[in-house]
Amino acid sequence: MLALWACLPFPATGAEDTVAKVCAACHGSDGNSTDPTVPKLAGMDQEYLLRQLKGFASGQRRNEIMAGIVANLDSGEFATLAAWYGKQKPTPGKVVDAKLAEAGRRIYEDGNTDSGVPACAGCHQPDGGGNARFPRLAGQHQTYLLKQLGDYKSGRRATDRLMVTVGQRLTVDEMKALAEYIAGL
Ligand code: HEC
Ligand code: HEC
Repeated sequence: MLALWACLPFPATGAEDTVAKVCAACHGSDGNSTDPTVPKLAGMDQEYLLRQLKGFASGQRRNEIMAGIVANLDSGEFATLAAWYGKQKPTPGKVVDAKLAEAGRRIYEDGNTDSGVPACAGCHQPDGGGNARFPRLAGQHQTYLLKQLGDYKSGRRATDRLMVTVGQRLTVDEMKALAEYIAGL
């Protein structure tokens, strides 16, 4: 009996260990990365995060770094990791160019009827808070946002037909404006 207790000092459900040993180096200790190429995960919906981890594992979402990471994880851990990040408090982002952000706000709220870009707010919500289906965008790094929009446009990230269409219809200037606005939400 005593020996058994000694072997089970912690509940087996925590994600903290993997976060600290593997993820924190890039995504930050609380899920708010400070590297603009690495997404903040704090406060994102756990179902969305779980889908992304499965996508990296299956190769449906292509990224060499994350493919290597998930290959070394037990897939049974994906859900607890996603739930842990979902519970962390997101930090705000920073707008550098207010004029550019204002141009982004117009597209975010109204879309671009000439090119058929839908309003981002319609799915991601006016405050960028998102939900299980449409990910939280608010406060995300500009550099990461720009890369994702470019990856949808090129088809490198073909994880969602709607977002590929959105990406194809956006110009690079519109993407930059949107990223600037979203970072400040
Ligand atoms: C060496 C750096 C690095 C490490 C370590 C790392 N990541 Fe990542 N992660 C990234 C990068 C870079 C991306 C963006 C990939 C892209 O551009 O598509 C990313 C993307 C993600 C995403 C997608 C987020 C979104 O908004 O769609 C999730 C989820 C994620 N990582 C979870 C994890 C977890 C959980 C761990 C630890 C087990 C981890 N990562 C470890 C660099 C890293
Ligand atoms: C019809 C609904 C819809 C609209 C409109 C929409 N999105 Fe999305 N967006 C999604 C969905 C669904 C995903 C998750 C897709 C996936 O799994 O790859 C997503 C993902 C994203 C991501 C990736 C987030 C991450 O953490 O990696 C970005 C960035 C994004 N959208 C930006 C935008 C912008 C900017 C607009 C407006 C120009 C927009 N979206 C309009 C549904 C939508």
